[in-house]
Amino acid sequence: MKIVVIGGTGLIGSRLVSTLRSKGHEVLPASPDSGVNTITGEGVDAALAGAQVVVDVSNSPSFDDAAVLKFFETSSTNLLAAEHRAGVRHHVILSIVGTDRVPQSGYLRAKLAQENLIKQSGMPYSILRSTQFFEFIARIAQSGANGSSVRVSGAMFQPILSCDVVAALADITVGAPLNGTVEVGGPEQFRMADLVRRVLRANGDQREVIPDSHARYFGAELDDASLVAGPGARLGSVRFEQWLQDNAPQRPAS
Ligand SMILES: NC(=O)c1ccc[n+]([C@@H]2O[C@H](COP(=O)([O-])OP(=O)(O)OC[C@H]3O[C@@H](n4cnc5c(N)ncnc54)[C@H](OP(=O)(O)O)[C@@H]3O)[C@@H](O)[C@H]2O)c1
Repeated sequence: MKIVVIGGTGLIGSRLVSTLRSKGHEVLPASPDSGVNTITGEGVDAALAGAQVVVDVSNSPSFDDAAVLKFFETSSTNLLAAEHRAGVRHHVILSIVGTDRVPQSGYLRAKLAQENLIKQSGMPYSILRSTQFFEFIARIAQSGANGSSVRVSGAMFQPILSCDVVAALADITVGAPLNGTVEVGGPEQFRMADLVRRVLRANGDQREVIPDSHARYFGAELDDASLVAGPGARLGSVRFEQWLQDNAPQRPAS
């Protein structure tokens, strides 16, 4: 089975390519660096030739509201049209738990627009919604940074290791199209501000972390249900504490 991974050089994409190859599939990682650009259309038809499955794990270079919406609308429209021309039989994307619950977030609105384009395309599809990756917590901190403090939401979230997301995505990719949406989330729930503080401290960053129910998460105020996976979700196996230990910066012995 030939599988094209759009965004195959990214955090999720590169791991997905390795996982699928280890299962014996022919996998083509595609991204602008390898001459495949879903915004301009460059290289897309050639990449998709002979492919049965396309997994889209691309991401917008800018998280600005207008830019991210334009990215996911344009790239999905171009990609789905090319898939119809190529006779692709399954379109898979990675979306985000809560896309339909947090309309104030420009990024989540853009992911919902991506999901809707796929549902309306007539292409057999599967949508996997994931909670936030452990690796993304540093970016959450960055988005709330202001001088010597970091102000982030105190709402609950359920972060997950990227490799656990990849395992779920790989299973879906090689299965029959779901023509529906399923969720994957981390094994535990935490208050966002608590984990931001722990990640900063683990990196020697002593900035004060202030939990603030009005702090915006990429444009939106959150409540405890906004980003948490539903009861039927697949759960990752790696706990936050384990990931933190495995990724602790190497400090010189004193
Ligand atoms: N972060 C989270 O916690 C989270 C949670 C749930 C779901 N997601 C979703 O997971 C997906 C993957 O995220 P990630 O963190 O793995 O992304 P990432 O590491 O930022 O990688 C993005 C990939 O998209 C490619 N790309 C950018 N512009 C492109 C274009 N015009 N045409 C084709 N490819 C393009 C990049 O290629 P270059 O390297 O060549 O630029 C790169 O391979 C995203 O769709 C995101 O919404 C993220």
